[in-house]
Amino acid sequence: MPSLDVASPALSPPVAAVVILAAGEGKRMKSSRSKLLHEIAGHSMISYSIRTATSMEPERLVVVVGHARDQVQAHLAEIAPHVITAVQEQQLGTGHAVQVALGHLPDVTGEVVVTYGDVPLLTTETLAELVSVHRSSGSAVTVLTAHVADSTGYGRIVRDSDELISRIVEDKDAGPGERGISEINSGIYVFDAATLRSGLSEIHAENAQGELYLTDVVAAARRAGKTVRAHMIDDLWQTEGVNDRVQLAAMNAELNRRILLDWMRAGVTVVDPATTWVHSSVDLAPDVTLLPGTLLEGATSVGTGATIGPDTTLTDVEVGDRAVITRTHGSLSVIGPDASVGPFAYLRPGTVLGPRSKIGTFVEAKNARLGTGAKAPHLSYLGDAEIGDGANIGAGVIFANYDGVTKSVTTVGDYSFVGSDTVLVAPVRVADGTYVAAGSVITGDIEPGELAVSRARQHNVAGWVARKRAGTKTAAAAEAAQAGRESAERPPSEPDEGRSSTPASSLTPEEGAQ
Ligand code: UD1
Ligand code: CA
Repeated sequence: MPSLDVASPALSPPVAAVVILAAGEGKRMKSSRSKLLHEIAGHSMISYSIRTATSMEPERLVVVVGHARDQVQAHLAEIAPHVITAVQEQQLGTGHAVQVALGHLPDVTGEVVVTYGDVPLLTTETLAELVSVHRSSGSAVTVLTAHVADSTGYGRIVRDSDELISRIVEDKDAGPGERGISEINSGIYVFDAATLRSGLSEIHAENAQGELYLTDVVAAARRAGKTVRAHMIDDLWQTEGVNDRVQLAAMNAELNRRILLDWMRAGVTVVDPATTWVHSSVDLAPDVTLLPGTLLEGATSVGTGATIGPDTTLTDVEVGDRAVITRTHGSLSVIGPDASVGPFAYLRPGTVLGPRSKIGTFVEAKNARLGTGAKAPHLSYLGDAEIGDGANIGAGVIFANYDGVTKSVTTVGDYSFVGSDTVLVAPVRVADGTYVAAGSVITGDIEPGELAVSRARQHNVAGWVARKRAGTKTAAAAEAAQAGRESAERPPSEPDEGRSSTPASSLTPEEGAQ
């Protein structure tokens, strides 16, 4: 994703530490899952904070966990084994949370960045900018602030000059005059480590919430004669947290909007941004076209000139250049260049489609490989299939891969032609250059050049309709057709009687579909 993955101007020298506060409860999500594990654009909320912090390349990265910490720690072990987790047993406030973090950074000097685990739109660029403002102004604390229309609930920035912040007052502690301040604390800061440590030793919980406020470090720093400045940000989404599922949806939509904007600027056509969802981990080439109702998830990548949609969901799918994927659901699959898939196809894990191959309407594939130019255009199940170059799988062919106990593989060789409505009962090998007659049930191997026929011979019973269905419209139609034929063929005419066997020529798989 262009803006999220951009290796930002790595800070030189790097900051000593980033502390991510993530111990709070997130009650309003009403979820058995930690708020931080809820996803936006396909990735956990906390993964964005980790990614943003990590791309600053701090010397150490500490995440303060507490509520639902088993879940959060297990997730962190998976996605970010490089982070130090600090456990805050009881959530006594943001100041206490940072004290706990410093317990894991006993010798830290220099700059400590503090941010939250639930601000997924915050970018590395913004954090880096905050740090460079901090450096160039020589402040002891730099606070990321914003002007908002409704500052209810936020800590307000109290300034004693245009330049300096004297303190931050929490919403619940604010007097009437302070309540009207529209500049708010985002909760994201850079602290000089020594100032932070001594400030934290001075704070107490005598306030409206009975909490140890990190924000009180600002006043403590000022008392110690240090300077505290603000760095104001206009893009309010970046400091916005997620507290409930309404905000989760809004944040998800906003991140998606930003992702699509970046892709459009990078040369991708998005016909309907309102119904197109692209995860932050997806990679798209220029001249890709995304039609309405497209969802691209996980490690999906799409090559140049490919067209996806409408109504297509691809999860962890690699799509080759110029491929066309229509109304398809696919996961863990590879679609070769110039291949065509759908409409109404289902690609399950392990599907690998060769260049110029085709998977058509109502075809399901699982663990199936199709060679270059191979085709399965209609109504098939390709389970555990190895299909060679140029092979043609007729309409309704089923690769019966499961005998109730084990799954087995079926091989169809290059340029072989499997007639419609054939069942290939695995394990079976159909060699290169073979034909399988339509309607066959194939249980034995077929050698190169052979035609395999495995079905009952056709048997026609002349006069059956007249005898058994007399008086029906069918009987009348038969009679009329026969009369028409007799007049056309006369003279002479042979009664078409007793034809009970089919000439061998009609056993060719003429029903094979294209
Ligand atoms: C905090 C700030 C406020 C700011 C606002 C921005 C304080 C005292 N106030 O208020 O000035 O405007 O953020 O959103 O800092 N957390 C812990 N352990 C705790 C308490 C909190 O890890 O003991 C974490 C939470 O998980 C959350 C973050 O710290 O990620 C903020 O906590 P929260 O209680 O939401 O603070 P606010 O009251 O919103
Ligand atoms: Ca909050």
